[in-house]
Amino acid sequence: MNNLMRRAQNVQLWRKYCVKQYTTEAASASLSRGKPNYDEFIGGRQVQAQRSIVVQVSSEKSYSELYNYCSRFGSIVGAHHYCVRHDDDLHYILLEYSTVNEASAAIDSGAANGDLSGVPVRSPFLWFKAAPGRRGPKLAANTNNNNNSQLPLSDLLSVDGTRQLDQASLLSQLRGAAGIEQQVQLLHEHTQLNDLGVRMRFLAALQVQQAISGMFPAAQAHPFGSSVNGFGRMGCDLDLILRFDGETGLRKESDGEPPSRLIYHTKENLSNGRSQTQRHMECFGDMLHLFLPGVCHVRRILQARVPIIKYHHEHLNLEVDLSMSNLSGFYMSELLYMFGEIDPRVRPLTFSIRRWAQACGLTNPSPGRWISNFSLTCLVMYFLQQLRQPILPTIGALVKAAEAKDVRVTEDGINCTFGRDLERVGFQSRNTSSLSELLLQFFEFYSQFDFHNRAISLNEGRQLAKPDHSAMYIVNPLEQLLNVSKNVSLEECERLRIEVRNAAWILESEVENSTLPESERQDEAWGLLNLFKHPEKAVIRPNMFFKPRMVEVSDLFEEQQQQSTTGPASDGGATA
Ligand code: GTP
Ligand code: MG
Repeated sequence: MNNLMRRAQNVQLWRKYCVKQYTTEAASASLSRGKPNYDEFIGGRQVQAQRSIVVQVSSEKSYSELYNYCSRFGSIVGAHHYCVRHDDDLHYILLEYSTVNEASAAIDSGAANGDLSGVPVRSPFLWFKAAPGRRGPKLAANTNNNNNSQLPLSDLLSVDGTRQLDQASLLSQLRGAAGIEQQVQLLHEHTQLNDLGVRMRFLAALQVQQAISGMFPAAQAHPFGSSVNGFGRMGCDLDLILRFDGETGLRKESDGEPPSRLIYHTKENLSNGRSQTQRHMECFGDMLHLFLPGVCHVRRILQARVPIIKYHHEHLNLEVDLSMSNLSGFYMSELLYMFGEIDPRVRPLTFSIRRWAQACGLTNPSPGRWISNFSLTCLVMYFLQQLRQPILPTIGALVKAAEAKDVRVTEDGINCTFGRDLERVGFQSRNTSSLSELLLQFFEFYSQFDFHNRAISLNEGRQLAKPDHSAMYIVNPLEQLLNVSKNVSLEECERLRIEVRNAAWILESEVENSTLPESERQDEAWGLLNLFKHPEKAVIRPNMFFKPRMVEVSDLFEEQQQQSTTGPASDGGATA
């Protein structure tokens, strides 16, 4: 075997061990088996994206014509229509082929747009031009051996797949629920990121990866955060990490062959790794802005602890945060994914708590001195760990269950090793509390929590003495010298305490009112809906746990709004 081939093979191996390269069958199997582990889930979705194309059409009525035209490249196994709403609705159909090669053939057949200026770029984003000289949709002959040809076309297509239940219908569903338990489940069901939402996010990642694959054949763009950890809601942003070398800290196995003696020449590194990343990102931001179809409103935020490029993808209607140096965030998403898989109550409960926090203005889409969704999620996970009958294991227990294949150390030395095999972790909860009981217990627990003196450790599943004067201290599970909630100000922490106390009070009264006849329940807000009321309506409730404080939550809300107009005090979220 010549060296060139061996080198090419090494690149393949490198990729294989960075994120498993799944065959089509393995990918489909892992997705349909029900409970894939994180690597299987990510690998399966990546291959699914490679088998897919997104085509802009004039409306969902173009589907038959598109299906027949695109079937010449291979067997279409799924189709999803969605709209991006501007002045006019823009319609798109995501087509899934049965193999990666078929999707590639469809993309390779694409022609440059002769009518408009613009640099032609190979990407999975295409548009379906009207057939020349034809007004109506005359169908091209279906020349492939499509297994689905016996299915009516409409059975393959899901229409308007990203439309969310509007607020009024959601509230009406919640009003009609049989109890708080069902409300929590319904909220989760109707607001969680759906299958198409996940597909679209993996296509956005693939586009970035493919755009640079010529120069960086081992490059990998990995979605992380709420898009993949199972805690995402419809419309959530996409957090993306791009590695030019595919390196994610996964253990590399030797293929038994000695390493190549031919080494790539490279450009000399700048002395400072951080300025180098910033420079690369600046350059990459330009490339995205100038060449990638769909990418717009590119913003470079290079001074943050984790420098990011933000952009909007207009064909996917998606906000993207791209980083190049936040691998611990990627593995943190794996931990959250595992927590969500361990017990079916974890995700619905977290959704209700996130929604409550949003409704009372505790969280805010922009980073600042308020608690981030990620920190709030950590509070929920810790609450579930410290119960007398825990619902989640500690991270320490996961670390103990690690095997050699679980070793992950990022390039900056952060140890992200923990047991990935839940069966081996062997955690079984004996807690039988209902979701409504857990919700109330969550609010009661944090009403009494001593944020002033205590820190929260998910690694140990217990409180620790607070090591500094931060208002809220949550030990960063993967970088234990850092505080995930360092950005939270004293006022915001106090507001959280007030709001959890209010919420506990509201839920306690709900339990008392649970005997109300069903007819009365239909007419008015009850249960979760009372937690989601506008913050201006919230008042300090009679004290259950603390001395009364003569502060109106609405006053604090105004204060926060003033602060937000003057800009955030510190960068929160992923910058902890
Ligand atoms: P939303 O974007 O609000 O839906 O939630 P998110 O979970 O995606 O949060 P965010 O975009 O702020 O962060 C993305 C991911 O980065 C999180 O899910 C975590 O996995 C990770 N992350 C965020 N902040 C930290 C941090 O302080 N430490 C570590 N280790 N990871 C973090
Ligand atoms: Mg996010």
